[in-house]
Amino acid sequence: MARKKLLAGNWKMHKTRAEASEFFQSFTKLVGNMADVTRSVDVAFGVPATLFDVSLKNAGSGVKILAQNVHFEKQGAFTGELSTVMLQDAALQGSIIGHSERRQYYGETDQAVGKKWNALSLAGLLPVVCVGETRTEREAGQTNAVVKKQFELALAEVSADAKSKDFVIAYEPVWAIGTGLTATPEQAEEVHLMIRSLLASHFGAARAETLRILYGGSMNSANCQDLLKKPNIDGGLIGGASLKPEDFSKMVLTAKG
Ligand code: PGA
Repeated sequence: MARKKLLAGNWKMHKTRAEASEFFQSFTKLVGNMADVTRSVDVAFGVPATLFDVSLKNAGSGVKILAQNVHFEKQGAFTGELSTVMLQDAALQGSIIGHSERRQYYGETDQAVGKKWNALSLAGLLPVVCVGETRTEREAGQTNAVVKKQFELALAEVSADAKSKDFVIAYEPVWAIGTGLTATPEQAEEVHLMIRSLLASHFGAARAETLRILYGGSMNSANCQDLLKKPNIDGGLIGGASLKPEDFSKMVLTAKG
């Protein structure tokens, strides 16, 4: 089964509402017939909460808007957090979870990532689960072990019901994020293939073929074509290059083919 590619922008802590409107105005113009494009490639943006409504209104037909984090409880005394109920209420389609910046700066653990995955899936929202090794781990030959551990510790928190729902894995080598250093298509494909077999061992080979694995880490309009050509790279999670309408529209059109 051919997997529909997914290009997801990760805006991190960028853009005011005015800047977001301006971005979407240019982006939609550059992409052209958005409804036609999103029929063959999924397009999403992970945006700050202040941009949920302006993004939903302006991103164009079929474009999905995601949060960049979510709490696993439905409500409660968790100052500064948003729940899946709130994301649903805001009409979002899912959330990025376990991004390396959240793991690094906010102490997010694999267990917490798993609980968020579970909560999103049960709420009918799409989890985009990030995994990836640091430079030191890669140099020590631990890439596969690190990614496997992150995935399996998170998965241990996901209920059988939640496991039956769609999810996306984003492989993001930490050393490639925001550094301009991209994994080569071969380096990325090698890890994606390992993740695919990991998925097969937990979900069965047939289901594993339907699940999408994105690459993230300095993906841009110049290198995306070669990365997206690899059989197990089903799209990208794109930071820096998703902030510029010229770059991101090119990438979307490349993915469309
Ligand atoms: P980058 O970020 O494309 O700027 O490297 C990717 C990410 O952090 O998701």
